[in-house]
Amino acid sequence: MTTTLVTGGAGYIGSHVVVALLQAGHEVVVVDNLVNGSEVAVERAGELGGGSPIFEQVDLTDRPALRSVFADHTIDAVVHLAGLKAVGESVAQPVRYYRANVIGGINLVEAMADFGVWRLVFSSSATVYGDPRFLPMTEDHPLGAVNPYGRTKLMQEEVFTDVAASDERWRVALLRYFNPVGAHASGRLGEDPSGAPNNLMPFVMQVALGRRDQLVVFGDDYDTPDGTCIRDYVHVVDLADGHVSAIEALERFPGCRAWNLGTGAGHSVLEVVHQAGAASGREIPLSVGPRRPGDAVASVASVERARVELHWEASRDLGAMCADHWRWQTQNPDGYPPPSPSGD
Ligand code: WQD
Repeated sequence: MTTTLVTGGAGYIGSHVVVALLQAGHEVVVVDNLVNGSEVAVERAGELGGGSPIFEQVDLTDRPALRSVFADHTIDAVVHLAGLKAVGESVAQPVRYYRANVIGGINLVEAMADFGVWRLVFSSSATVYGDPRFLPMTEDHPLGAVNPYGRTKLMQEEVFTDVAASDERWRVALLRYFNPVGAHASGRLGEDPSGAPNNLMPFVMQVALGRRDQLVVFGDDYDTPDGTCIRDYVHVVDLADGHVSAIEALERFPGCRAWNLGTGAGHSVLEVVHQAGAASGREIPLSVGPRRPGDAVASVASVERARVELHWEASRDLGAMCADHWRWQTQNPDGYPPPSPSGD
């Protein structure tokens, strides 16, 4: 029986990873500071995955508390998703991001080594590629983050790469997510951003729900078929399955290796709006505003390496992503409820 520690397991992607790990027969321990997560999501993930994940409310910058988790539980592998992830916020609060993400990551691998845990799957991001030089982007694409958030992901990749090179017992997977969207088909797990969503899909869904008046499209004068930016949207359940595949692949890939997790297909902002309207049956009022600084015109993954080496590929299309996201949104219009005292 493998016991996997999931940092950030109370979050959007993390809770879906918990379901996938439980369904694959793992025992799961979740560590999360609940800044961007919900303990209810962990409870629901346990119900959906058919298991009983252990939850520890711990911040990775609290070294003694983090080490206690390793002392209290026999951990075989770690999936590391915990971190702050809003690009704009990282520009305004860089030190908070470097402390939470980079120091947190360093504390994690230090504790892992001290307790003899050598299997790490890291939640990285396509943002480490910076502005695309060619498409689709392979894992060998030049690296060069263009904002503090992206730099915290790239710095953690470099730390974990050097740590893996220092001791042959390490096996590290760097999973570079493209644009995760969607939700578990049950509608019981989903994205629950605090405040106004930064990302397209949750914003569009809140417009469809009537929580927001309209979507502002950040520019429609790009060199694309409909003038709006293109992204590689990947269903969060496909993404979660990719983490189980990565843990299994670590037995075949010593050292440290990166894999893109995307679909290999790109969709424009207006295509997403159209699909979200079809899934919800609602009008999505929109206006066109100025370009958002830092936006790339297109970002699409090469997924060949993951297909061949992880035996993983995404199976859900944009229509499914929108339908599942909408189901979560309508069943949970205000996101997750606060945890009930009895832990229901
Ligand atoms: C997608 C497209 C916007 C909102 C970011 C992070 C990345 C990762 C995923 C964490 C862009 C347009 C958006 C809106 C719009 N996050 N848009 N109006 O920027 O590709 O990636 O989220 O790991 O690291 O950089 O995703 O959803 O913000 O934007 O027109 O209100 O939608 O301009 O073209 P992005 P996004």
